[in-house]
Amino acid sequence: WTLKPAGILAIHPILPVLVVDSVAQAVAVGNALIEGGHSVLEVTLRTPVALDAITELRRIFPDVLVGAGTVLNTSDYDQAIKAGAQFAVSPGQTEVLLHHARNQTIPFIPGVASASEIMLALAHGYTCLKFFPAEASGGVAVLKAFGGPFPQVRFCPSGGITAANVQDYLALSNVPAVSGSWMVSDVAI
Ligand code: 3PG
Repeated sequence: WTLKPAGILAIHPILPVLVVDSVAQAVAVGNALIEGGHSVLEVTLRTPVALDAITELRRIFPDVLVGAGTVLNTSDYDQAIKAGAQFAVSPGQTEVLLHHARNQTIPFIPGVASASEIMLALAHGYTCLKFFPAEASGGVAVLKAFGGPFPQVRFCPSGGITAANVQDYLALSNVPAVSGSWMVSDVAI
C-alpha cells in the first residue's frame, strides 16, 4: 500500500460516512462536504448505487480521497477497487479479508469491538482500526481502556458519534479521527 491508513486518518479528524440513494445525491453531499473543508469521504456499500457513486465522486473530485465502507468480503473489496475506491473500511474483520487486503493496492481499515478482535488484527499486522459500533460498544471509556494493553493501536471510532460527543473521542490520544454520518444524515436530495 502506498497510501497508509494512518495517513488517511491524519488528513482530517472527521471522516464523513455517506449512505447514498443516488449518484446525484452522492455528488451533492460530496460537494457540500468538500466545500466545508473535507477531502476524505467514505461511501458505504449498502445501497445499489454505492459503487457508481464512488466512481463518479472520483471523476468529479480528483483531489479527494474516496473510500468504500461496509466492505464485508473479498468480493466487496475487489468491486470497490474496480470502482475507483482508494481505501476500504469494514465494520468487522474476517481472517480471509485481513489476508486478502494485504495483497491489494488499496489500504484496509478493519473494524473491531473487543480485545480479542484487536489481537487478531494485530496478528495480521493491522494497527489502524475502526472501533465499531463505538457508542454501543462502550465509547470513550472502552477506548481509554484499550490504550493500556494496546498502546500501538490507533482507532477510528464510528457508530453513534454526534456533534455532542465527537470532541470527547478526539481528545483521546489513541484516536486520530472519527467517522460517522451525523453531519449528513438529514440531507435529502
Ligand atoms: C457506519 O458504518 O454505519 C458508520 O460507522 C457510521 O455510523 P453512524 O451512522 O452512526 O455515524
